[in-house]
Amino acid sequence: MKKLLLLLIGAFLLAGCRVSEERARNNRRQQDFTADWAFCLGDDTLAARPDYNDAAWRRLNLPHDWAIEGEFEQNNPSGTSGGALPGGVGWYRKTFVVDKADKGKLLRIDFDGVYMNSTVYINGHKLGTRPYGYISFGYDLTPYIKWGEKNLLAVRVDNAEQPNSRWYSGCGIYRNVWLSKLHPVHVAQWGTFVTAEEVSKNSARLLLRTTLDNESDADAALELVSELTDENGVVVGKASDTLTIAKGIRHETLQEISVADPELWSIERPYLYNIKTEVRLAGKTVDTYDTPYGIRTFCFDAEKGFILNGKQVKINGVCMHHDLGCLGAAVNTRAIERQLEILKEMGCNGIRCAHNPPAPELLELCDRMGFIVMDETFDMWRKKKTAYDYSRYFNEWHERDLTDLIVRDRNHPSIFIWSIGNEVLEQWTDAKADTLSPEEANLVLNFGRSPDMLAREGEMSVNSLLTKKLADMVKKLDPTRPVTAGCNEPNPYNHLFRSGALDVIGFNYHDDWFAGVPRNFPGKSFIVTESVSGLMTRGYYRMPSDSMYIWPERWDKPFYDASFSCSSYDNCHAPWGNRHEGTLRHVKNNDFISGQYIWTGFDYIGEPTPYGWPARSSYFGIVDLAGFPKDIYYLYQSEWRPDKNVLHLFPHWNWTPGQDIDLWAYYNNADEVELFVNGASQGVRSKGKDDFHVMWRVRYEPGSIKAVSRKGGKVVAEQEISTAGEPAQIRLAPDKSTISADGKDLSFVTVEILDKDGNLCPNAENDVTFAVADAGFIAGVDNGNPVSLEKFKANHRKAFYGKCLVVLQNNGQSGSIRLTAAADGLKQGAAVVKVN
Ligand code: GAL
Repeated sequence: MKKLLLLLIGAFLLAGCRVSEERARNNRRQQDFTADWAFCLGDDTLAARPDYNDAAWRRLNLPHDWAIEGEFEQNNPSGTSGGALPGGVGWYRKTFVVDKADKGKLLRIDFDGVYMNSTVYINGHKLGTRPYGYISFGYDLTPYIKWGEKNLLAVRVDNAEQPNSRWYSGCGIYRNVWLSKLHPVHVAQWGTFVTAEEVSKNSARLLLRTTLDNESDADAALELVSELTDENGVVVGKASDTLTIAKGIRHETLQEISVADPELWSIERPYLYNIKTEVRLAGKTVDTYDTPYGIRTFCFDAEKGFILNGKQVKINGVCMHHDLGCLGAAVNTRAIERQLEILKEMGCNGIRCAHNPPAPELLELCDRMGFIVMDETFDMWRKKKTAYDYSRYFNEWHERDLTDLIVRDRNHPSIFIWSIGNEVLEQWTDAKADTLSPEEANLVLNFGRSPDMLAREGEMSVNSLLTKKLADMVKKLDPTRPVTAGCNEPNPYNHLFRSGALDVIGFNYHDDWFAGVPRNFPGKSFIVTESVSGLMTRGYYRMPSDSMYIWPERWDKPFYDASFSCSSYDNCHAPWGNRHEGTLRHVKNNDFISGQYIWTGFDYIGEPTPYGWPARSSYFGIVDLAGFPKDIYYLYQSEWRPDKNVLHLFPHWNWTPGQDIDLWAYYNNADEVELFVNGASQGVRSKGKDDFHVMWRVRYEPGSIKAVSRKGGKVVAEQEISTAGEPAQIRLAPDKSTISADGKDLSFVTVEILDKDGNLCPNAENDVTFAVADAGFIAGVDNGNPVSLEKFKANHRKAFYGKCLVVLQNNGQSGSIRLTAAADGLKQGAAVVKVN
């Protein structure tokens, strides 16, 4: 018995340092390889060696972002635009054992993304360097693996040369890592490409292109079986073929499956099928590969805009950078899901991945939740925007990076359009004289073109040629989706437009030019790739609300306002942008505009326009960095959620007696709204045809205000706000009261400072200290204040306009997480999150 126990313990310990089989990516060959890494901030070239002693290094699980753990400093080389957090060089090491019994298999390591300039070593052997911090990449480990013994994987990450980004990038292995053990005969990495042809209500024809690798030393006679299952796992179609692939050969096979009465993927019902691809040798399955897939039809039309499954759909989208607020760039599926849930609740139906390849988890969630995604490749091409950015690598790497992105992502039903660049400087007319050296021309432009074709294109500028090259590459890899680019030069003379290669014209801002699009770009469809750039601090109001603050006054001149805040009345925006209501009016009233992606859904770290230090995160979000909606959120909800009765009255009701206060209400599904101050009516207001809010200017007196919306005389909704007294207590509201015990799941706890009667204290700034016991820890704290220099990784946070946030993460144990929150003079708050 004792012996058996010891054996079991031994097996458990061994399993612990083996590849974890527990969590696999949808394509089930990939095992989660994120546990138990050693990390050191700093550079040491010897760290790649297997005999290097890393005993003193920190132990952690990936994904990891070391910058988010740092201090904000004015002199950090990222600058405030990059979030004023540290950069540097860091090393990661992981020891692992692969079963001797697996000898003969291929071993592959895949990184979803490492920021940036990563160099990967296995057992001291250098596998390669990948500069682009947002691209997914992998290496074959097989030739260097010691079977049944310890192997050492080491990764050097170099984000020392900054600025290299216009926003916060994060530092480190900030996305997931996967290990695959493959039979030498297998589906290639990202080796399936599914397209739907002849889709109707009654049927669809799926074309499956499967790329198979025979890396064995013999020819392989195999059976390739592709099975289509519906959401319930029922097989609804199948294709099977036998073929022989010569040794050492990569081969693409075409199969076809017909589906009767296909369920279509839509925003409301994002229906997902799965295609299970099996490779069988002598009747035995040697590889299995899953491709989730959605069947839908769509087009971008020059007159009618975006059509999905035959129905006109306005793209009500937002741009999103990749950071997850106080969690930094470190990918966490629940954190991304929460962002998407908050946006979906607003009625948002589109995400633009600004301005780089996103985490695969974001796309998987968009597939499942129903978002229209614009997948974007680059923020710059050859011309740099910051001193050390990707332009340095563009010539050498753009073909590889662009190809890898498209091949990785082209099965996602949520992706509807590719963007090959954001505001690349090559668009400008003064770039028409650009020339290339013969070597560069060869490297950058000649991709896949015969001398003949080049001669025909001879009339084009270098930058138009480059546009055409990139667009052609995308269309060759994915003929099913259009290509656009986010252009802030709306003139048709723009080199990107003049290439003729963009299927959809994309404007960033320039609302004044929207009306001219049908004339300037006849027959072309149009989308507002980026819009608004409104500036708002949650909870801050500058009156009178009908005066505009267009900040900064000049983009090239430092801007200063002592408040370091921006008003929440939709009366503050960047000069290149517009009020939210302004752009919304154009987009709503013009069918030819397919939709817009508003800058931005959430605040993000970095780019604190209009301010400089100590501001360190953006003011652009509809939702603040902590995930708390700003008032403007309800403008969109009232417009985009006709299924929900919306009434949002703001601001709060804590002012100086005698002060004139502008009260606004966003509402829908009603004819009118009446406002009461301490029971006395202040009048009934209704929105005009092109209005989005109603307003009252009233004299402040303590007490309460109440808005009542009515339709046909019947009350639709009511909202009351009372003057809050002194802060007295803390309320904790977890967004999830039960989470899973996977060591990764999160509960986001909203912390509110209330008076003794339970009213939110809208100006409270109490410093709240958290204590956590049992099955979890604090993953981060925030309050949405773009000027706070408090650390994100801490056990306390000051409230900002009455609120802050603590993020709890499971530590791998089950049971519950017990949280308490205390602040001087306040009754403490408590919450329990169950973990199972
Ligand atoms: C745009 C740019 C975005 C962001 C935004 C701020 O021009 O594409 O990345 O910088 O301005 O308003």
